[in-house]
Amino acid sequence: MIPSARLAAVSEYPFARWAVHCRAAVERGIDLIRLDIGNPDLPPPPAVLDVACAAMRSLATHGYPGYRGSSELREAICERYERRFGVSLDPDREVVCLLGSKEGIVHLQQAMLDPADPVLLPDPGYTPYADGAALSRATIVRFPLRAAEGYPPDFDRIPPEIARRAKAIWLNYPNNPTGAVAGPGAFTNAVDFARRHDLLLCHDAPYAEIRHDGKAPASVLQVPGAHEVAIEFNSLSKTFNMAGWRIGYAVGHPGAIELLRRIKSNVDSGMFLPLQRAAVAALATDDAWIDKRNAVYRDRLRLLAEACSAAGLASEMPLATHYLWVRLPMGEEAEPFALRLLDEVGVAVAPGSFFGPAGEGFVRLSVTAPTDRIREAADRIVAGSRLDRAAGRPRE
Ligand SMILES: Cc1ncc(COP(=O)(O)O)c(C=O)c1O
Repeated sequence: MIPSARLAAVSEYPFARWAVHCRAAVERGIDLIRLDIGNPDLPPPPAVLDVACAAMRSLATHGYPGYRGSSELREAICERYERRFGVSLDPDREVVCLLGSKEGIVHLQQAMLDPADPVLLPDPGYTPYADGAALSRATIVRFPLRAAEGYPPDFDRIPPEIARRAKAIWLNYPNNPTGAVAGPGAFTNAVDFARRHDLLLCHDAPYAEIRHDGKAPASVLQVPGAHEVAIEFNSLSKTFNMAGWRIGYAVGHPGAIELLRRIKSNVDSGMFLPLQRAAVAALATDDAWIDKRNAVYRDRLRLLAEACSAAGLASEMPLATHYLWVRLPMGEEAEPFALRLLDEVGVAVAPGSFFGPAGEGFVRLSVTAPTDRIREAADRIVAGSRLDRAAGRPRE
């Protein structure tokens, strides 16, 4: 079969390709520790399971669920935005439920981009921004997030003639893969930039609640007037350890929400009602549950950061997320390095090159494995560096 031109513009999702290497390693008898994909190992809040099971047993929940999410779920999303961010949303015009936020990220681009339309993407950045743009045959224009500056968006370095022609700009703070947070004024500048250039600002915020810097979670919609230019994606996958449930949502700009609804009504037929009821329970989770979970991530991040340092690999404790972004020794390429780690020490990490050209020379470690396995991975990384030194491979 020959793929359509739009499908030919993307390869298989890099983590799907990487999973093949992981499976092959396990088949060869390697006791593999998976730190490559950000797949939370800890359980969802207890109320979620009770509500989901009760809803599954009800015969009233098994029909088509409606297209845009139940009013109960959309209102629960609004309540959470009000409570966590002080942001007021209209549940009818400014909220749409998604089957995981990745789906919405790709569909919105199909709904708003025509072939050759420029779209501005952060580099490094989460892969579906580029995949969604490529599937629309849009023109991808990457702007660098610079390590030396703490990975902020630098709007002054985006050429105005490109910004003028572009339809949208993507941002993601707290950031995957770097763990950076948006600095003071970053969201205000982003809204201002989007308004000046008549762009849709697409902000992706699934890690908003996984912070390690003691600061409150932030939303781009806190900026006055942001609803007129910005849509924000969010998800239960990371916030409530519910990645497999596929529950996400988008909020903000009513016109963009309407486009998403329209395309999705032609593609999917809504979210299974027991999941929607469980989502309502999750969104009501108290902040202490989140703080406790984040403390577990911090302990694990410290273990791995120390191991990387002992192995001669530079990393910094992230201010947010469950990712450690690790710089490789000069001249090391990300994918061959990650493959060697997988084969020789049985630790799977994500090559930074999966996240765009600026990710080359880095790997990303996700602390979403049980703590004893993280400890074991840390030991193996240190032992592996001794192997490297013995083999004369460079370490700075
Ligand atoms: C930045 C970012 N956005 C969106 C997602 C997708 O999350 P979901 O599980 O809601 O599709 C991820 C998942 O890793 C992510 O890292």
